[in-house]
Amino acid sequence: MSERIIVNDVGPRDGLQNQSRILSPEERIRLVEALVTAGLRHIEVGSFVSPKAVPAMAGADRVVAGLPDLENMTYTVLIPNMKGYELATAAGARSVSMVLYGSETMAQKNANMSKQQAEDVTADILARAKQDDIRVIATIAVAFECPFEGPVAPAEVRRIADKFMQLGSDEVAIADTIGAANPRQAREMMDMLVSDHDANRLSCHFHDTRAMGVANVFAAAESGIRKFDASIGGLGGCPFAPGASGNVATEDVVMMLEQMGFDTGIDMAGLLQAADLANELTGTAPGGRATTWLKRNIEQAS
Ligand code: COA
Ligand code: ZN
Repeated sequence: MSERIIVNDVGPRDGLQNQSRILSPEERIRLVEALVTAGLRHIEVGSFVSPKAVPAMAGADRVVAGLPDLENMTYTVLIPNMKGYELATAAGARSVSMVLYGSETMAQKNANMSKQQAEDVTADILARAKQDDIRVIATIAVAFECPFEGPVAPAEVRRIADKFMQLGSDEVAIADTIGAANPRQAREMMDMLVSDHDANRLSCHFHDTRAMGVANVFAAAESGIRKFDASIGGLGGCPFAPGASGNVATEDVVMMLEQMGFDTGIDMAGLLQAADLANELTGTAPGGRATTWLKRNIEQAS
């Protein structure tokens, strides 16, 4: 049997937060439904953040309330603070991703708090979440490079990962928020973290800004990482990180992993339909770089 690898689609959150066209909660639910139909079992469905900071994520409670109720689904929401935790869990979310930062300026720009404050509130959230039986992903943003401060020292990422593994995060996600990492850096970072921690509690989040997203997924998979974020149609970009383009496209990641012999559980034809829907709804989903080939391949097979 081939080895399972988890692809977590963050399109409905990371992909939509920076769109000029704001989707209604109903439209966002349709996108999630298309991803579920394609076989995705891990989806980041929105964020509980200030609607003034990110208008596109308003109504996340309605999204959570309208999600397909299937077994074995992990729907995650991003939160920036305790208020986000409270709103998310009140809405019914069972898995939250809390953001930590490789640099001070990014913490200020993204959440109007210091790095230390973000760490303190994440520790508080983890304590609450243990009592509430909520899954917590500690996401280290700008883990390779900050758009304001430049390169981030791997030792700093290691420190934050150690701290939140010890505090009991279910997972620590290493995020290349602006798509600045190259595959050698991705490999070295993930080799280091895999030597410190259980690889099954680590995941990676790459953006494709410099066309190295898929190469970085490969590099981290070689280090033993078995969970990756990706965004349907390559949608995305962080509103607070200048120059960041979309996440690596789910279609490209799934194609590569499946061709390498991993089992993602995802159906490519369904995924391409979800990508078409993402583009229909936003008008800005570039699609994966293999889309033309993938579509022709499916047409020929049918
Ligand atoms: N969800 C919804 N509303 C929130 C909130 C949350 N998690 N946290 C704070 N708010 C509200 C407050 O109630 C307050 O509302 P009011 O103006 O009606 O009284 C307002 O937002 C400002 O609250 P404050 O605590 O002063 O926050 P701030 O202005 O310093 O902003 C954040 C801090 C974290 C709320 C804001 O920067 C944010 O939401 N950032 C998220 C950015 C993001 O999603 N980035 C992309 C993903 S990494
Ligand atoms: Zn991102």
